[in-house]
Amino acid sequence: MEEVIKIEGGHPLSGEVFISGSKNATVALIPAAILANGPVTICGIPDIADVDSLAVLLEELGVEVVFKSGDHIIIDPTHMTNEPLVHPAVTKLRASYYFMGALLGKYKEVKMKMPGGCYLGPRPIDLHLKGFEALGATVDYQQGCYLIKADKLVGNKVFLDIASVGATINIMMAAVYAEGRTIIENAAKEPEIIDVASLLNKMGAVIRGAGTNVITIDGVENLNGCFHEIIPDRIEAGTFIIIGAAAANEMKISNIIPQHLESLISKLQEIGVDMTIDIDSITIRGMKKKMEETDIKTLPYPGFATDLQAPITALLTQVSGDCKIKETIYPERFKHCLELQRMGADIELGSGSAVIHGPTQLYGDRVRATDLRCGASLVTAGLIAEGITEIHDIYHIDRGYDDLVGKLKNLGAVIWRENVD
Ligand code: EPU
Repeated sequence: MEEVIKIEGGHPLSGEVFISGSKNATVALIPAAILANGPVTICGIPDIADVDSLAVLLEELGVEVVFKSGDHIIIDPTHMTNEPLVHPAVTKLRASYYFMGALLGKYKEVKMKMPGGCYLGPRPIDLHLKGFEALGATVDYQQGCYLIKADKLVGNKVFLDIASVGATINIMMAAVYAEGRTIIENAAKEPEIIDVASLLNKMGAVIRGAGTNVITIDGVENLNGCFHEIIPDRIEAGTFIIIGAAAANEMKISNIIPQHLESLISKLQEIGVDMTIDIDSITIRGMKKKMEETDIKTLPYPGFATDLQAPITALLTQVSGDCKIKETIYPERFKHCLELQRMGADIELGSGSAVIHGPTQLYGDRVRATDLRCGASLVTAGLIAEGITEIHDIYHIDRGYDDLVGKLKNLGAVIWRENVD
């Protein structure tokens, strides 16, 4: 038996959806919390499987974890110990690599398995390791395990060849207790990095420049517990905005920071989506006219997010004409296109690129969520397809979307989970 998501397409959506806390911030904030020497309360935790996996890893380390009612978590690392992280939960998500920076920062030594996560093509972690080495650590990899250790960590200048989100956050975490000043140059600028820096600063760290391409971290001797509220998930918000553009009469997407979504908003305006932008919400009124062609190039923030490339591809199948997509972050991130083709999409795949010829009628079929955002793309397609779409491997969707099925049901979608043979 396997649980699948089924969608009967063609039912227009309407109403309001409340966006949860950012998955990609959460998965870094939870490991960051162990750097404190007292309890850290984080509110706005999304109900996603990645959080459950991280909670398992916290327990492995002897960290006390309490899920309070609603979306609060209390992480108390007071009595934790530096155990090797070899539990299978490490391989369930990419972000388990944040324990590298956090444990190295706190104990000057970490032993852990290779992290897992969505397959989007090669996802090396050389820049994370280069950062740790620059602070004085040695890195050894044997029998599927990393052993990273240092006698002491000393602040240094680290230039990232690529503005990597993960490397920026991991180096920040390793550097908070290092002696002296660490400077990360060509740092990534994603809002999730600002969120993590903000938590660490509330704990007592001295981090400046998060959100720009130069971040400085002045090492401190102690970090305290604190309270932190996670930023809204810009990728979940973007997914619902795209779904609204594809399938809604009128839909309000609330609890968002519209500035985090500017590249998506401008693309949707370009193709003719009617929307009103407020301080913390966006209202989509579906299509006023036929959608105009557009081209998309994924780029680091504030450019068009690679995580929204798969969802918007489903929408672009409805545009009249040809839309070109250039994927510069993960050139192999096009598995969703093969699934969309099964549903009737006319997509030509190139090297790191795709051209979508439209508009095409989509038809429900049996498809597979090959990764998290592919899952979101297939849900979007299923909502506008004729007939029933059956999505398999939905554990990918559950890893990163908080109650996607429930939220869509509230908007009037005919969508459900079902066990099938
Ligand atoms: N890269 C390297 N070496 C490294 C690190 C990265 O070559 O040491 C390359 C990657 O291969 C990629 C580029 O640099 O081509 C950017 O990767 P980055 O490190 O920024 O990605 P990440 O931190 O592993 C996060 C998100 C991804 C999102 C990317 C890009 C988390 C947990 N994951 O991954 O989110 O696609 O940034 O914005 O924050 C998702 O949510 O579906 C997801 C995959």
